[in-house]
Amino acid sequence: MGKLLEVTDLKVDFATAKGTLRAVDGVSFSLDKGESLGLVGESGCGKSTTAYALMRLLSDNGRVSGGKVEVDGKDLVAASDVELRKSRWQDIAIVFQNAMTALNPVMKIGDQLADALVLHQQVPRSQAMARAAEIFEKVGLAPSRLMHYPHEFSGGMKQRAVMALALICSPKVLLADEPTTALDVVAQRQVLELLVALKKDFGLSLILISHDISAVAETCERVAVMYAGQIVEEGPTRRTLLGARHPYTRGLVASMPSLHADIDTLESIEGGPPDLTHPPAACRFAPRCPYAQPICTAEAPPMVEVDAERRSRCHFALDLDQLKPRERSANVAS
Ligand SMILES: Nc1ncnc2c1ncn2[C@@H]1O[C@H](COP(=O)(O)OP(=O)(O)OP(=O)(O)O)[C@@H](O)[C@H]1O
Ligand code: SF4
Ligand SMILES: [Mg+2]
Repeated sequence: MGKLLEVTDLKVDFATAKGTLRAVDGVSFSLDKGESLGLVGESGCGKSTTAYALMRLLSDNGRVSGGKVEVDGKDLVAASDVELRKSRWQDIAIVFQNAMTALNPVMKIGDQLADALVLHQQVPRSQAMARAAEIFEKVGLAPSRLMHYPHEFSGGMKQRAVMALALICSPKVLLADEPTTALDVVAQRQVLELLVALKKDFGLSLILISHDISAVAETCERVAVMYAGQIVEEGPTRRTLLGARHPYTRGLVASMPSLHADIDTLESIEGGPPDLTHPPAACRFAPRCPYAQPICTAEAPPMVEVDAERRSRCHFALDLDQLKPRERSANVAS
């Protein structure tokens, strides 16, 4: 049987003043029912664009220029507008990166939830309101709050309301794009715990997009690391982060204090990502990579199967430990 979500060789282009920018370049991954995948990588690597492409919600200058996105066997890239309307929010839904703008400031939150259900599932309004109350309880909000406006909610409560909005049509796959970024530490933890509980409760497949790999380590069974529009490493979260087979993943982990409680220095990944309007034909990470060898600037590395569950886009994925890394800058952790 196929997976619930299969993304195959996805490519997304934006028309820009500098030419075509390929923000997502050949991304493939899959997700079983009830499974969770964390998508991590530094700013601009293509995490949100991947999520928007899955929903077919790209901005006007963006387009999916190749690949497939199949949810429950339906190809959303090839789907007609009518077919897409049936799938979007019902098969696959998103909690946007800037959650606060997902709510209409001049409409009571209960009306926004009920409207979404009436629009997508044509249920009577009274039934939609009852469902909104149910979902509100599931996300830890009192149903009496349905009669309130967004400005009457705290940041953490708004985030919960936005999650309720994404879940109201009972999607099979939930994309959560940086759901905790705008929140204080306590609210961040609560929202992550809520995501885990909702995933279990609804049998959801979850994609959590985050800069924070410790959030992904605590929440997701699998992790995919993106760099410059491509997945560079993927596998079971703990094994992939702690035994990384790609130098970029190693750099990310070394720059995270919470995963390195036993060391007293934090490393930084020097330099910046390539210009995606003219990406290099060789390894995209080579200019920043402490392990780079002559082949790295001559040939693009293939995706290598590290084992049955793990893959890495590095020429030296299988023998990285035999290479001696160049010294990187180290900052004393405070
Ligand atoms: N509408 C757009 N027009 C042109 N380029 C865009 C557009 N949206 C995104 N991009 C570019 O596509 C690339 C990927 O951006 P994206 O927003 O997906 O990154 P991200 O990984 O989500 O970053 P962040 O962690 O900052 O949210 C970047 O180079 C970005 O500048
Ligand atoms: S292919 Fe070479 S440059 Fe690229 S990540 Fe691997 S070692 Fe570094
Ligand atoms: Mg983003």
